[in-house]
Amino acid sequence: MTGTEPAVSRIDTSRPHPARVYDWFLGGKDNYPVDEELGRRIAALQGDAPRHARANRRFMERATRAVVRETGIRQFLDIGSGIPTEPNLHQIAQSVVPDARVVYVDNDPIVLAHAAALLRGTPQGVTEYVQADAREPERILEQAASVLDFDRPVALSLIALLHFIADDDGAHRLVDTLVGALAPGSCLVLSAMTADFDPENVRKGIEAYTASGVTLVARSHAEVGRLFQGLDLLEPGIVSLSDWRPSAEEGGGNEGSPVSLYGAVGIKP
Ligand SMILES: C[S@@+](CC[C@H](N)C(=O)[O-])C[C@H]1O[C@@H](n2cnc3c(N)ncnc32)[C@H](O)[C@@H]1O
Repeated sequence: MTGTEPAVSRIDTSRPHPARVYDWFLGGKDNYPVDEELGRRIAALQGDAPRHARANRRFMERATRAVVRETGIRQFLDIGSGIPTEPNLHQIAQSVVPDARVVYVDNDPIVLAHAAALLRGTPQGVTEYVQADAREPERILEQAASVLDFDRPVALSLIALLHFIADDDGAHRLVDTLVGALAPGSCLVLSAMTADFDPENVRKGIEAYTASGVTLVARSHAEVGRLFQGLDLLEPGIVSLSDWRPSAEEGGGNEGSPVSLYGAVGIKP
């Protein structure tokens, strides 16, 4: 694990943090009153916000499974990994390929404080945690290279991360740098918030996050498409993530209105 300065002492409980608000939506215990307060405000505006968080988690599971089964990729770089929530990405990948190698990255000290749970994988596989900011992609690539072989395909996941990074704060540069470093046959798994389906409530949600000091941006279908430039999209393309190959066990996945996040998987030719 890198970046192991005492994490707990760096946890700021005076303002909400995305990882902890998301944990609250998922029914987790690793959040503070400020996070719960913002979570409740968002849920009051958008009653199904917790459903969206759960749907995002399920998208991660389905997409990771599809990548392992359909591409044969055995290496994963998951940036904006979040507070551990079972099943974690390495558990899904290693349940199919026990020797999968996974590097998790997040910039929030609360994730670092709980990272031990992300490091318990199969004996044949490897899991590593790197404390870093996604806006420093070169640093991430350098540190991940101790576990991942970038001459071979890697699945890069940016799941529910990029809506916390505006375009003028480097969202495109970081995607270009990371995808540019990947070998042919690698893939990008991404989900990102959109206002395309429910503009009024998403706008109110953005205002609530912004008022609490958290950057939040919604992207249109075309804007998410630009993040996949040069990649070949797996079916069904860029869709509300509850429509991305909904599984029968989850009751078809798409109960209710579309989830306000786009999800997609693109392969680097
Ligand atoms: C909504 S959570 C998503 C967690 C997980 N990827 C999932 O989809 O279940 C977003 C995560 O991105 C992290 N994050 C936000 N901005 C970041 C940045 N600039 N660098 C690294 N991580 C960041 C947050 O700390 C949080 O853990």
